[in-house]
This record gives sequence, C-alpha cells and structure tokens, in this order.
Amino acid sequence: MEGLKLKFADLFAGIGGFRLAFEKADYDCVFSCEINEACQQVYLNNFGDIPANDIRKIDRCNLPYFDVLTAGFPCQPFSICGRRKGFYDTRGTLFFHICEIIEYINPPVVILENVKHILHHDKGRTLEVILYSLEDIGYVVNYEILNSKDFGLPQNRERVVFVATKNKKFDFGLLKKTYPFPNLKEFLCTSGEFEYLNPQEYTMIDNPKQQESGLIFVGYRNKNIWKTGIRPNTEHLSRVHHQPNRIYSIEGVHPTIPSQETSGRFFIYIPEENAVRKLTIRECYRIMGFPDSFKTHSNLAECYKQIGNSVSIPVMYELANQIKKQVFYHQEIMSDMINITQSCHVKQSIQLEIPFK
Ligand SMILES: C[S@@+](CC[C@H](N)C(=O)[O-])C[C@H]1O[C@@H](n2cnc3c(N)ncnc32)[C@H](O)[C@@H]1O
Repeated sequence: MEGLKLKFADLFAGIGGFRLAFEKADYDCVFSCEINEACQQVYLNNFGDIPANDIRKIDRCNLPYFDVLTAGFPCQPFSICGRRKGFYDTRGTLFFHICEIIEYINPPVVILENVKHILHHDKGRTLEVILYSLEDIGYVVNYEILNSKDFGLPQNRERVVFVATKNKKFDFGLLKKTYPFPNLKEFLCTSGEFEYLNPQEYTMIDNPKQQESGLIFVGYRNKNIWKTGIRPNTEHLSRVHHQPNRIYSIEGVHPTIPSQETSGRFFIYIPEENAVRKLTIRECYRIMGFPDSFKTHSNLAECYKQIGNSVSIPVMYELANQIKKQVFYHQEIMSDMINITQSCHVKQSIQLEIPFK
C-alpha cells in the first residue's frame, strides 16, 4: 500500500527525528534537507539517503508533492520595519525559505518545532511574525508547549510545536498523554562501560525532594567553584546551581538534554550501587525515544550535539497519528484524497473539514 501513504517533507532534518516518528506512524518521506555534513552522514547511515543541503538553494519547482511539512528550524530574529507585509517581511531568514516552500506546495499540514524561548524571543515579535506569515499564506495556526515526560519519556523537555492547517485549528487537547511519567531507571543500560565518579568528587544533599517537573536533584560535583561575584561562604551554592555539576536521582526524570553540552556531563545516582555515574550516550538517545538500533555518529561530541538538537520521537509520533485523525480522518477518505492529489499532480491540495467528536 506504499502509494497510499501520506507524504511528508523533513526540512532542517538533523539526524532524522521527525523521520523516525513519521515513518513509524506510516508516513512516507519524499524529501529532506539538512546543511550539516555530520548530520547528513548519520541520516544516510540510518535512512539510506542524503538530505539536500541548504534550504536557501532548493529549487522549489523540483520538489515532489507532500501532505505534511515538518521543520525544527534555527531561531533567528526577523528584522522587520514598517507595516506588516505578510511573510515577504521575513525575506533573508530561514523561516522565509520555509514559507516559500509552503506557499508553493500548499501542503494541508505544517509542523514547526522549536525551543519554548521562541515564544518570547525578540519581545514576542518572532512569534507574531511566525503566526501572521503562516496566516498570510492561508493557514490557521495553533501552538502548544509539549513536554517529553508527558509522552512516555523520563525527560523534562519542553518544546513549542506549531501546527498550521487549512480550515480547522489543530486541537492539541486530543493528544494522548501518558501518566504517570516514567522513571529514568527504566531506560538505563544494564551493562556496558560506565564512567563513575570517585566518592570524593561529589556531595550528596540531605532529604532530596521531587520537584513538580519530576526532577529529583540529589547532589552535586565538588568542582568548578565560581569565586567571582559569589558571597563568602556560599561557594557551594554556585556548584549546586551550575547545571553540569548536578546529580539527579534515577527515581525521577532527567533534565533537558541540551545541544550545547558536547562532553555529556549528565550525572545520575544509582542507589543499588551507592554510586554516581555519567549517563551513557546510548541512554541519552533512549530518553529521546531513539531505538538502540539507531546508528550514531563516530564522534562523541557530535553525538551529544545531534541528540540535544533532535525532536523527541514519541511526541512527534503521537502528533503524526493525531494529525491523521484530525486532518486526514480515516483511511477511506484519506486514500481518496491521496489519489486525487497524486493523479492530478497539482500543488494545490484539499483538506477535509472534519466534524471531530
Ligand atoms: C534544531 S536542528 C533540527 C533537528 C531535527 N529536527 C532532528 O530531529 O534531528 C536544526 C537543523 O537545521 C540545520 N540547518 C541550519 N541551517 C540550515 C540551512 N540553511 N539549510 C538546511 N539545514 C539547515 C542545522 O544543521 C540543524 O541540524
């Protein structure tokens, strides 16, 4: 039934987080682009094709039709002066190039993923521009902050997701969330080469408590004491507040895996061994929802950067399924629609109005 699958384009593909999720939800990837060579390499090793390079150099006339466009694009300021001129205001930005492709292909659904900070970026102007640019090219847009820990992963990772559709706003309230959130310990490797800290390298705190976020901060590493700007006798507090020095319990969730932490300073306390060790790179990929069969880059720093930049697979998988239900409805209607769009070879598509229950 290959020909009946919904098609998607994977822009700013990274190592293919969207692709893993959407293929799992039975969508077919018809185009991808990614400028970074190390990411392209990983993408090739896992999916068998090399993404097109720079989005700014894509000739949109040669693009195949797709039903869904996904993009986790870098956040850039939009320097706009004067009155709003729709998405043409964003010329020169990567977002403008995404909009150009959207306008040309006119897919029924667009999904944009970003750090939640984008909502307040440039005093809220970035958000405003994203919304009015998409509206300008015929979409209704909804957005929500989604947290990986609500989708079966032991990671407190908040990302904003924009879903642009044609007629009816996407309802984020229908996404299936999983409660309670899982513990980190269910995702740990049981064997392998673990990097332990010596007991004199860390301090455990008394009476650790689970925070609302699900994190249980249990200790800190005894190093990197910041002396400048620190009041006398409070040096230990600077260690506690410095994220790479923190040690977390495996009974809770893990903080966000960031793309900037290229040496993987993520430390966990294992109660059975009364020991502190580093989270392994495989464990980092697991708590983003990547399968153990995923082939990572040969350079460890690249691996950390790439996974920190990725999307959470179960979040996007649930979104992909819910988009099918809300936008493309059930299989029969979907097949008809795909047949129409494919046989016409048109860039215009139709979107069904669904009386959603
Ligand atoms: C936040 S990451 C997206 C990661 C991806 N969603 C994933 O799951 O792995 C943004 C990506 O955009 C890529 N990028 C930046 N500028 C680009 C451009 N001009 N053309 C294509 N890709 C670009 C970066 O190399 C980076 O991998």
